[in-house]
Amino acid sequence: MAKTLHIVLLCATITATAAYHRPDLPPGPYCGQPSNNQCCRDRKDDCSHRILDTLCYCDEFCNRTRAHDDCCPDYEAVCLGIQPDPGFLIQPCNYRNKQYFPGDKRSDNCNTCECVITNEVTLTTDWKCERDACLMSEDVVYGVNQPGMSWRAYNYSQFYGKKLKDGLIYKLGTFPLSRETRRMGAIRYDKNIAYPQNFDARRRWPNFISAVVDQGWCGSDWAVSIAGVASDRFAIQSNGAEALALSPQTLLSCNLRQQQGCRGGHIDIAWNFARGHGLVDERCFPYKAAVVRCPFRPRGNLIEDGCRPPVRQRTSRYKVGPPGRLSKEADIMYDIMESGPVQAVMTVYQDFFHYRDGIYRHSRHGDNTLQGLHSVRMIGWGEERGDKYWIVANSWGPEWGENGYFRIARGVDESGIESFVVTVLSDVTEANQKK
Ligand SMILES: *[C@@H]1O[C@H](CO)[C@@H](O)[C@H](O)[C@H]1NC(C)=O
Ligand SMILES: *[C@@H]1O[C@H](CO)[C@@H](O)[C@H](O)[C@H]1NC(C)=O
Repeated sequence: MAKTLHIVLLCATITATAAYHRPDLPPGPYCGQPSNNQCCRDRKDDCSHRILDTLCYCDEFCNRTRAHDDCCPDYEAVCLGIQPDPGFLIQPCNYRNKQYFPGDKRSDNCNTCECVITNEVTLTTDWKCERDACLMSEDVVYGVNQPGMSWRAYNYSQFYGKKLKDGLIYKLGTFPLSRETRRMGAIRYDKNIAYPQNFDARRRWPNFISAVVDQGWCGSDWAVSIAGVASDRFAIQSNGAEALALSPQTLLSCNLRQQQGCRGGHIDIAWNFARGHGLVDERCFPYKAAVVRCPFRPRGNLIEDGCRPPVRQRTSRYKVGPPGRLSKEADIMYDIMESGPVQAVMTVYQDFFHYRDGIYRHSRHGDNTLQGLHSVRMIGWGEERGDKYWIVANSWGPEWGENGYFRIARGVDESGIESFVVTVLSDVTEANQKK
């Protein structure tokens, strides 16, 4: 009798405690083959079939020894009419040279795949996978990184394995603007002046421009962009006397009415909160990327809040004036140059998450069916070989894009970035006002 097979099958028997075993054996048919030597009586050595690199048997003798290990995998089912353990015949699912059995799972980027039985009779299996668009897509990376594009794409490991639909909630966070807000009249400066070709608030006001924040897995862009714009403008308008980082957490935790925290917020409601209640210093209420309890009383002052104001004259919270809207390229430029960074609302598609450097334009690579609104802080502009762009701070940390910033085409309302831009004046303590 075939010695090798004996060993193979013995090993298989040892591992047979799992729900599905002996995946190492091709399931056949052998004894069930419609050829000669089917289910032979007694011992008949030529009543055999090739299996792996040896032989298996369909004669009665294979069942006679204590370990009836030389029988073909389908001997019991075909010759004795005993239904085999399903695992005996199961075909495993394969992935990258590894075998998986029904119930086993693996992940494919943001999607989970499960090995399932697709045919109960033949016991064939296959992968059943979710088919959601992922935050990171090979198609985008490949498609965008072709010659002739104005920007480059990157596969960010911190975004890999996440679903696009979740990214649109937890990496953005701006709710669609209400009709009244969209109808808000825009401020028109109509200044007929020669604008510099390049303007960067970080160079114009060194040390006054706030650092790039990482909003984390929390749809708080509405709070982060407002706190950023307000901080920059406090510093600029006070000529540094009130240079500080304001806390987006104040908005995230305390501006709860009609807002949804890490699932998103309305920027008009948030600006009104920043105007009516004011914000506190970041050090007093650091960013947590989660809605923790608001520790402040409504409309309190900094002393009551337990926040020691860095500026002697200040007791009230940091409040802003009424927000205003800008919607023309030149007006936006004028406002940034005069008073500092502004907030802009843009439409984000899958490709934007991959931005690494260059001048962004929506590429149409990848998924174009899902989109979200994103509030960002616009800090300047420039021109590269005749290609005009805005310089914008994102809130995905300094590892993303150009040190946390991105550049986007200017003058063409790319991704809607010029269609709703917000400016505001900060309530700088009188003694600190810029002369
Ligand atoms: C063959 O083995 C099965 C168990 O696998 C047993 O039920 C049956 O009685 C055996 N038949 C003979 C003829 O030994
Ligand atoms: C993208 O990055 C992840 C890990 O961060 C990696 O597993 C995956 O293979 C990468 N995809 C491509 C196309 O490079």
